[in-house]
Amino acid sequence: MISHQVPYHIAIVMDGNGRWANKRFLPRIAGHKQGVESLKRCARACDTRGVRVLTVFAFSSENWKRPTEEVSGLMDLFAMALSREVAQLKAEGVQLRFVGERQGLSARVLRGIEEAEAATASNDRLILNVCFNYGGRWDIVQAAQKLSAQGQLVTEENLNRAMALAHVPDPDLVIRTGGEQRISNFLLWQSAYSEFFFTDLLWPDFDEAALDQAITSYAGRERRFGLITEQLDPASAAADTV
Ligand code: IPE
Ligand code: IPE
Ligand code: MG
Repeated sequence: MISHQVPYHIAIVMDGNGRWANKRFLPRIAGHKQGVESLKRCARACDTRGVRVLTVFAFSSENWKRPTEEVSGLMDLFAMALSREVAQLKAEGVQLRFVGERQGLSARVLRGIEEAEAATASNDRLILNVCFNYGGRWDIVQAAQKLSAQGQLVTEENLNRAMALAHVPDPDLVIRTGGEQRISNFLLWQSAYSEFFFTDLLWPDFDEAALDQAITSYAGRERRFGLITEQLDPASAAADTV
C-alpha cells in the first residue's frame, strides 16, 4: 500500500535558526524571529493542504543550557509572538495547544499560554501543538507518574492516555530541518511508527515548496507497521493502482 494521502499529523523539529542568523552576521535571536515567520507560513500551508494537526518543537528541556542571553531572548520572543499572533490564528481557525513542563516558566509566559489556549479552544480547522519546555523523556516520566499517583496499571493504553499529546493521534510524518539527523528528545513515544523526512534547509528557509517535497516523499512510502505488504488493506492497495 502506497499512501497517497496527505499526512493527518505533521511534527517538525524547527532547527537551524541560529545558523541562518550567523550566515547573515546577525545575532542568533534574529534567526529565531525569522523562525516565527516561517512557522506562520508553514501552519497556513499545512491547513491549505489538508493537514489537521501540526506539532512543532519550539524549546526543548535541554535548551535551558544555552547562554542566558539566548534563553531570555527566546522567552521574550515567545511571549511577544503569543500576544501578537493569537488574534489572527484565532480568526484563521487554529487551535493552539502548548505541550511541555509549565513549572519553571515565567508568569508572563504562562499567562500568554493560558490566554492563547482559552481564546482558540473552540477552533477545529488546524490543531497547532507548540512543544515548549518539552522533552520526550519528560513526557514519558510525567505520564508514568500520573498513572502511579492515580493507582493505575502501567499499560501501553494507559500511558498513551496520560501522554502530553493524548488529544491527537501519533504524528504520521516527522520533519527535521537544519541538516541534523537526530531526534533530540522530541516525540520519543509518539514517533514509534512515524515516517521521517530530513532536509538541509534551515528552518527560516523552509517554505511551501519544501513542505510539498516532504509530503510527496511521505506519500510514496509504504507504512507497514510490522506487517508484510500482502497483509495491508486491499482497498487502499486497489486505490493505489488508479
Ligand atoms: C532551533 O534553532 C530553535 C531552538 C532550538 C530554539 P537553533 O537555535 O538550534 O539553530 P542552530 O541549530 O543553532 O542553527
Ligand atoms: C532541537 O534543536 C530543539 C528544537 C528545535 C526546539 P537543538 O538545536 O536544540 O538540537 P541539538 O542540540 O542540535 O540536538
Ligand atoms: Mg539547533
